[in-house]
Amino acid sequence: MKVARIGLWVHVLLTVSVLVGAFDPFTTTVLVTVGATLGRTIYKYFQETCDAKWIAFNATGLKVDLDTKLFGQHLASRVVLKAVSGFMTNENPKKPLVLSLHGWTGTGKNFISKLIAENIYKEGMHSSYVHVFTSTLHFPHPSQIDAYKAQLQQWIKGNVTNCERSMFIFDEMDKMHPGLIDSIKPYLEYYDKIDGVSYRKSIFVFLSNAGGESIVQTALEFWKAGRSREDLELKDLETSLSLSVFNNNNSGFFRTNLIDKSLIDFFVPFLPLEYLHVVQCAMAEMKARRLEPDRDVADKVARDLVYFPKSERVFSVKGCKTIESKLDYYT
Ligand SMILES: Nc1ncnc2c1ncn2[C@@H]1O[C@H](COP(=O)(O)OP(=O)(O)O)[C@@H](O)[C@H]1O
Ligand SMILES: *[C@@H]1O[C@H](CO)[C@@H](O)[C@H](O)[C@H]1NC(C)=O
Ligand SMILES: *[C@@H]1O[C@H](CO)[C@@H](O)[C@H](O)[C@H]1NC(C)=O
Ligand SMILES: *[C@@H]1O[C@H](CO)[C@@H](O)[C@H](O)[C@H]1NC(C)=O
Repeated sequence: MKVARIGLWVHVLLTVSVLVGAFDPFTTTVLVTVGATLGRTIYKYFQETCDAKWIAFNATGLKVDLDTKLFGQHLASRVVLKAVSGFMTNENPKKPLVLSLHGWTGTGKNFISKLIAENIYKEGMHSSYVHVFTSTLHFPHPSQIDAYKAQLQQWIKGNVTNCERSMFIFDEMDKMHPGLIDSIKPYLEYYDKIDGVSYRKSIFVFLSNAGGESIVQTALEFWKAGRSREDLELKDLETSLSLSVFNNNNSGFFRTNLIDKSLIDFFVPFLPLEYLHVVQCAMAEMKARRLEPDRDVADKVARDLVYFPKSERVFSVKGCKTIESKLDYYT
């Protein structure tokens, strides 16, 4: 969107020249006309549109990003790549793609959503076709649930009417009223069209900490048995995950028929992060800040975090979440 302002600037510059009387009346008229047309063309050129110029899936890009930027999440990485690639290369999907990401805080759920968006939309998370809803921000008062339901339905309908390749990210699902998520159920189903709008090319991503504990439990058992984290398989987690989410009255999904009816295509588990992953996060953050990645600093940052369970100190309590501020302190 920033570039869109260039058009405006051309316009402003010309108008100013005219106002200070730099040109004779004829030249002025010509300049204003040319300026306005040029401005509009440039504006349109940089204005994001719902077509292949702005929305083009890069499968290689997603794979490279998942391999190099997302640490310690071999399962999430694999599932997301398969799910998104399959969906985006399907010319005629039967329903929208619905992903439910679960896991401990700070383990990369928002981060992976960003990687997905960046490899579909040129503007990434800044795209006007990517929408993030945060429960505590957009739907804070349980008493207003009915108003929220109507509003959310209207937003989704409006946005998909605008562009069928829309992406909706629901953060903090565990803090969302279950009724709210049921209200968008019709959009996630195998309908051809609802009121003339087709939702089949949209992507819905739900993020929640629900199920995080059951994932930690399994990961810890693996660790205690001396088995490699990479040996963890989806089947080790999937059942317990969807059950614990469904039966957890704080998950936002509690007794929703989203799960009943298998409207969620993939449950994606995020493993709790270990010391080495935190070090990797710190190194990546230094790189992002154009600093020379320094392993000693990264170690200091990682040692500064709190790990659990208390006796073994295996997993970072906040994942990679507080790295940024810690890094400020050490660099
Ligand atoms: N697995 C990971 N790999 C790389 N960076 C990560 C990972 N998990 C978290 N981070 C870093 O920590 C920050 C916070 O993580 P976030 O994705 O917001 O966590 P959450 O799982 O709570 O959504 C991210 O912006 C990212 O920089
Ligand atoms: C897709 O991603 C790869 C790897 O990041 C990159 O080299 C390539 O230029 C991208 N392709 C397009 C069309 O953006
Ligand atoms: C799209 O969703 C946003 C919220 O992310 C909302 O503010 C906007 O009004 C919606 N657009 C339409 C056309 O409904
Ligand atoms: C929700 O779960 C908590 C503890 O898990 C329990 O104390 C509470 O009674 C439950 N509420 C409902 C409505 O089931």
